[in-house]
Parts: sequence; C-alpha cells; structure tokens
Amino acid sequence: MKIQAVRGARDILPDEIPAWHRIERAALSLFPRYGYREIRTPVFEETDLFARGIGAETDIVAKEMYTFADKDGGSLTLRPEATAGIVRAVIEHNLMNADPALKVWAVGPMFRRERPQKGRYRQFYQVDVEAFGFTSPTIDAETIELALGYLEACGVLQHELVLNSVGDRHCRPAYVERLRESLRKLAPSLCGDCRRRAETNPLRVLDCKVPEDQAAIDTLPRIADHLCADCSSHFAEVRRQLDLLGIPYRLDHRLVRGLDYYVRTTFEVTSDRLGAQSSVLGGGRYDGLVRDLGGPDVAGIGFAVGMERLALLAPPGETETRADVFLLPVGKGAFDRALVLQRELRRAGARAMLDPEDRSFKARMKLADRLGARVVAILGDDEMARGVWTVRDMARSEQEDVPEERILEHLKEKANG
Ligand code: HAM
Repeated sequence: MKIQAVRGARDILPDEIPAWHRIERAALSLFPRYGYREIRTPVFEETDLFARGIGAETDIVAKEMYTFADKDGGSLTLRPEATAGIVRAVIEHNLMNADPALKVWAVGPMFRRERPQKGRYRQFYQVDVEAFGFTSPTIDAETIELALGYLEACGVLQHELVLNSVGDRHCRPAYVERLRESLRKLAPSLCGDCRRRAETNPLRVLDCKVPEDQAAIDTLPRIADHLCADCSSHFAEVRRQLDLLGIPYRLDHRLVRGLDYYVRTTFEVTSDRLGAQSSVLGGGRYDGLVRDLGGPDVAGIGFAVGMERLALLAPPGETETRADVFLLPVGKGAFDRALVLQRELRRAGARAMLDPEDRSFKARMKLADRLGARVVAILGDDEMARGVWTVRDMARSEQEDVPEERILEHLKEKANG
C-alpha cells in the first residue's frame, strides 16, 4: 500500500518553488520599508489561546481546530492562524515596552480542518502582518495600502478591496442586541448554525454562506447605521485617506470576518479568478485583544494573505536552471580532475554539476540538456594529452579549447554571463 499525503495537505513541488520564492522575496523587500521586522512563533500553542483569542463560537474554533491532548494532560492546538500566537509572544516578551510602535510580520503554515477544495486546504501557508500600539485611522489606511502593495509586488493586480467597520465595545453591544431581536422572528427559517448563533453570537449570522438564507439575512439591521460617533469618524477618516491615496474599495456591511477579535475596520481582498474561495487576503483592527489575552490595553491591526491562493493568482516564477556548467569527464583521471573543478566552481558561486553515475558520453550529454546547462566542459584522453578542456556553448552550438590553467576562470565567467 502506497502512503499518500493526508487529505487537504499538499506538497509544494520543486517546480512550484520559484513562485513561492518570489512571494517570500516580495515580503522581505517590502515590509521593512513600512517598519516591519520578522517574528517566528511556534506552530502549536495552548488550546485556550485560540478559544479566548479567536472566539469559541467561530467556525475556526468550534469546528476546524486540530486539537490534541498532550501527555501531561494539557490541551494543545495546531495554530489555525498567526495573530493569536503573535499577540501571546508580544505579551510574554513585553515587546511593547521596548517598542511602543511595534510592527512585526511572519510566514508559516496554519491548520484548519475545513472541507478541502481548490484553494482551500487543511494545511496552508500565510504571510501575516501585525502592528501594535497605533490607534489612529492613518495606520488602518497604511495597513490596507501595504496589503495591496504586497499583492502588487507579487504580480497580482486584478482584485477587489472590500471594506467595513464592525464598531467597538461602546456601540457594538447595542447593535448586537437589535440583531438578536430581529433574529428572533427570522431565525426559525434559517439554517441550523444561524439558529444557534442567533442566540450565542448573532454577528456570526452575517457570515452565513448558505444560499437559501441570504435574502433574509440581507434584511437584518446594518452595523453601519449603528456606529457610535467615534467609530463613525474613525471609519470616515480611513475612507478619506484611502481616497487620498487613490485606493478604490467597495463597502460591504456584512463583512464581519470569521474571527471574533475584530473591532472597527475590517477588510478583505477578493479575486474572481479564485472560484468559490475568492478571498486572498483578510484583516482588520483588533484593539482589546492584547488586553483580553492578559497584556496591556494596546491597539492592534493586521492582515494575512493565503500563500496558495497568492501563488494561484501570481504569474508563474521563472523556471530555474539546475546547472550553469556541466562537467563531462571521460576516464578515471579525468573524473578526479572534474570532481575537484566541480567543487571549485560551486565555491565560486556557479551551479556546477557532473554525472556521478557510470554512464555513456551520449547519456551524459542528454542529462546536461535536461539540467538546462549553458556550457558543457569535456575532458577526454585527447584533451588530457593536450592540457585543455573542450568547452561547448550549448545555445550557440559552438566549441573551443580552453587551457587547463584558465578553465576555472573561463567557466566562472561563462556561468555568470
Ligand atoms: P483569515 O481571513 O481567516 O484571517 O485568513 C486569511 C487568508 O488566509 C484568507 O484570505 C485565505 O487567503 C487564507 N486561508 C484561510 N483559510 C485557508 C484555507 N483553509 N486554505 C487556504 N488558504 C486559507 C486570518 O487568519 C487573520 N489572522 C488575519 C489577520 C491578521 N487579521 C488581523 N491580523
């Protein structure tokens, strides 16, 4: 019996890696320009962190977490997202003390037990960006600008930015109460999840994707009509700055996002090229989360991009050549000489390769071709006797003799050119 990858877990094969490198390089190059530094946190945490951070009534926590009992009786969970773990690290290491305007980013695998389909996996990767200690709407606009700038740097230009404000602890409770009241009449006709959430967490009803429920849900009260003065002016300023920066968006009053920690600004970037899983990036403000998880009362805002979805949208990366130079010795003495030259070339930065298996000249030429070698350097009895290498330029189909004492320099130049 062949063993296969676990359902929903996917291999990223060598041919796909250039595209992944490109999106990783774009992060390394862009984020520092906005003051971000990288952070790496563990892939597993205490289960409680996610239950308290993301919210017990969210799909992620209620249905999708990979949770297991540790041998000492504790409960651990593979992280379903990066924000909660980063907030834990910020609190644990008092990072805000040293840096009251803390900006960090991270990349790594996340785990959610969702139904697998195109663009939706049980292990997937996120690039995640988080800023702490900024209350001004300027950082909301900057974070959104950075999110779109990152997509652009990855070669993704066609998309839609969707924007909402979900209020804060002053105005949201009253709105949620109104929602609950309206849902009392409506809930019996809605799906099972909605009926339960109408009582436990009414805001989550706005997330419902069941087609038959949509018309009814659209008649519910809108948060936009119930924002307090502070949330309202914050949101107006975010929108004004987006206009100023020339960033178009569509308002969607149902964009509450699948995590409970959001307050005020929420946003998502979608692409119709992704099919059903149209969201490539999502984020928002989460003032209060750091405090709720036992830290100081500081603001937070950030976003995460799904790297598989980004790789689907981004133009393919260039295919890598495996070898600049292929060494082709014939005979034992020549092989030993080629082995030493191969090491020298690699140490000088060239992609050098020889065939370590005992194969014919013809088979080796074929291999050189398959590896995409630009140059093949041949050392046979005749060349050994004359103290030269035959160097063949594969693209031009030209060859020349290069004296042994110049061969390293010559091949280095060829590899770089
Ligand atoms: P999220 O919307 O749950 O937000 O996920 C962000 C992105 O991760 C999605 O837009 C999508 O591209 C990708 N993603 C999510 N689930 C899957 C999956 N099963 N398979 C493939 N890709 C997936 C968060 O995770 C928040 N922590 C974002 C955030 C950071 N908010 C503030 N800071």
